[in-house]
Amino acid sequence: MTEPLDLRHRPRRLRRTPALRSLVAESELSLRRLVQGHFVLPGENREEAIGAMPGISRFSPDRLLPQVAADLERGLRSVMLFGVPEHKDGEARGALDPDGEVPQAVRLLKQEFGQDLVVMADVCLCPYTDHGHCGFVAEEEIVNDSSVLALAKMSQVLADAGADVLCPSDMMDGRIGVIRQHLDQVGHEQAGLLAYSAKYASAFYGPFREAAGSAPSFGDRRSYQMDFRNRREAEREVLLDLEEGADMVMVKPALAYLDIIRTVQDLSTVPVVAYNVSGEYSMVQLAVREGLAEERTMVQEVLGSMHRAGADMIITYHASRVAQKGWLS
Ligand code: PBG
Repeated sequence: MTEPLDLRHRPRRLRRTPALRSLVAESELSLRRLVQGHFVLPGENREEAIGAMPGISRFSPDRLLPQVAADLERGLRSVMLFGVPEHKDGEARGALDPDGEVPQAVRLLKQEFGQDLVVMADVCLCPYTDHGHCGFVAEEEIVNDSSVLALAKMSQVLADAGADVLCPSDMMDGRIGVIRQHLDQVGHEQAGLLAYSAKYASAFYGPFREAAGSAPSFGDRRSYQMDFRNRREAEREVLLDLEEGADMVMVKPALAYLDIIRTVQDLSTVPVVAYNVSGEYSMVQLAVREGLAEERTMVQEVLGSMHRAGADMIITYHASRVAQKGWLS
């Protein structure tokens, strides 16, 4: 045989130049789909670097404000807030405090940025309980129904403060329906619900538990978070949350669960959110620090894979940096 070979199909034709590659690219992530996660400290004028999450700090509400302002300026318009309270007890009383760090931050952000910013707030008892579980505990078991009622009240406190979207991450049964009903009864029918629907028990939450000080003091979360071996169970959780009134559904973690993201995208009639969790973030950052990876391309590839798999939106700690560097513009 002689060159050129008689090849009819040459897929490389469409990969020849940057302009051609850009013309035929099948998916494209944009900044408008990203949500930056923030950890909120009580008090004033506080910033603490988080050792397990290079590049991420916890801020008191007043110090969070300029961070969010800078992101907003660059086109990153959504945040997700997590509380890092100092006081913890068996009743998770801090979760219901209208002057807690998260309601304060929500009020401040809404005062300053109004409708320009989407403020989402995590709804869970684990940062506020002394045992660190996501629900109340009786005889070393996590109690479902009383925890759900507390989550409904916590949602009300956050909605009162002005949160646009409430995000229950506890994985108690039936909480979406109960929270929805409660919010409607107290006049918050416009407050949205993003359900952490398919939330798996995962080693990838390690750095977050340091960041939020929410590691359980005994046992683990496997009696309420999902088993990583299951896929159909994720469909069931999503269908239940849709029936109970979820406005958006989430798959979490994201990177080891891309198949679940695709399954949920095929099933869901509401926007699908992927949560690029702390462990996924820190893995990338540590690899970059060690010189094993180039940050820009790795972040683009990681987030791009979630979007390609079917995520309409991504909650990620990379968002601020992506905005700052213009990696998605
Ligand atoms: C609280 C909550 C957790 C995360 C978000 N909300 C921790 C957990 O369930 O243990 C993890 C987020 C991350 O790892 O970035 N229930």
